[in-house]
Amino acid sequence: MPEIWVKPERMPRHVAIIMDGNGRWAKKRGLPRALGHRAGVEAMRAIIRESSDLGVEVLSLYAFSTENWKRSTEEVGVLMGLLLEFCGREVENLYRNNVRIRILGDVERMPEPQRTALKNAMERTASRTGLQLNFAINYGGRDELRRAAQKLCEQALSGALRAEEVTEETLRQALDTAGQPDVDLVIRTSGEERMSNFLPFQTAYAELQFPKILWPDFGINEYHAALDDFAARDRRFGGRSEK
Ligand code: FPP
Repeated sequence: MPEIWVKPERMPRHVAIIMDGNGRWAKKRGLPRALGHRAGVEAMRAIIRESSDLGVEVLSLYAFSTENWKRSTEEVGVLMGLLLEFCGREVENLYRNNVRIRILGDVERMPEPQRTALKNAMERTASRTGLQLNFAINYGGRDELRRAAQKLCEQALSGALRAEEVTEETLRQALDTAGQPDVDLVIRTSGEERMSNFLPFQTAYAELQFPKILWPDFGINEYHAALDDFAARDRRFGGRSEK
C-alpha cells in the first residue's frame, strides 16, 4: 500500500484519463503500433492498481471511442484482441482487489466475443465495493447524451416521468455513470489539449491536466505529480474562492 500523502479532502474522488500517445511511443522506438498499445495496457494496469491503493473512488479510462472504428482494420483488431486478453487475464484479479468494472458506452453494439466478455466482467464484479473502474469502450459523449435522452423519452411515454420532472438529476441518473460523482480531474497524456467527446456532462467543472508524456511512459511518479498538482488547485465551481 502506498503512503497517502495528499489530504483526503484534496484527493479527487473521480479521475478520468484519456490515454493518448501509444502510437507515437511505438514510432519513436521503430516498433509496430500494436506494441505501443500493448505497452499502454501495462501502464493502464499500474494506474488501476495505484488508484485502488490510494482510495480513489472512480477511475474512468478512455479505451476506445466511437470514432476509433475508423482506424485500420488491423489496428482495430489489435485493440479488440487486447481487450479480450485484458478481460481474460485481469477480471479475477480485479475482483479479488474489490474493484467493480463498469462499461461506459454502447456495449450492445460491440462485436462478439468482446460484448460477452465485457458483460461478464461487469456481472462478475458487480458486488465489489472498492474502486469503481469505468472503461469507456465504444464510447462517445454525445452518443451517451443521446442514449440518456432516449431513456427519458421512453419513461415519459410510459407515463413514469413528466416533462417538468426532467431535472439535472434525472438526466445524471440516465447517464452511463449513474450513481457516481462528477469527474474532478481529467488527465490527457501526450500533450494534446482536447476533450475528444469524453464525459462532456460529467467533466463540466473538472480540473484539466495535459502532461507532455506519452501514455506508456505515464507511471506512478507521474500520477502522483498529477495528484499533487490537483491538490494545490483552488476549485470554485463558479462560486468564490474557499481560500
Ligand atoms: C491512443 O493512442 C490510445 C488509444 C486509441 C487506445 C487506448 C488504449 C489502451 C491504452 C490500451 C487498450 C486497452 C484496452 C483494454 C482496449 P494513439 O494510438 O491515438 O496514439 P497516437 O496518437 O500517438 O497515434
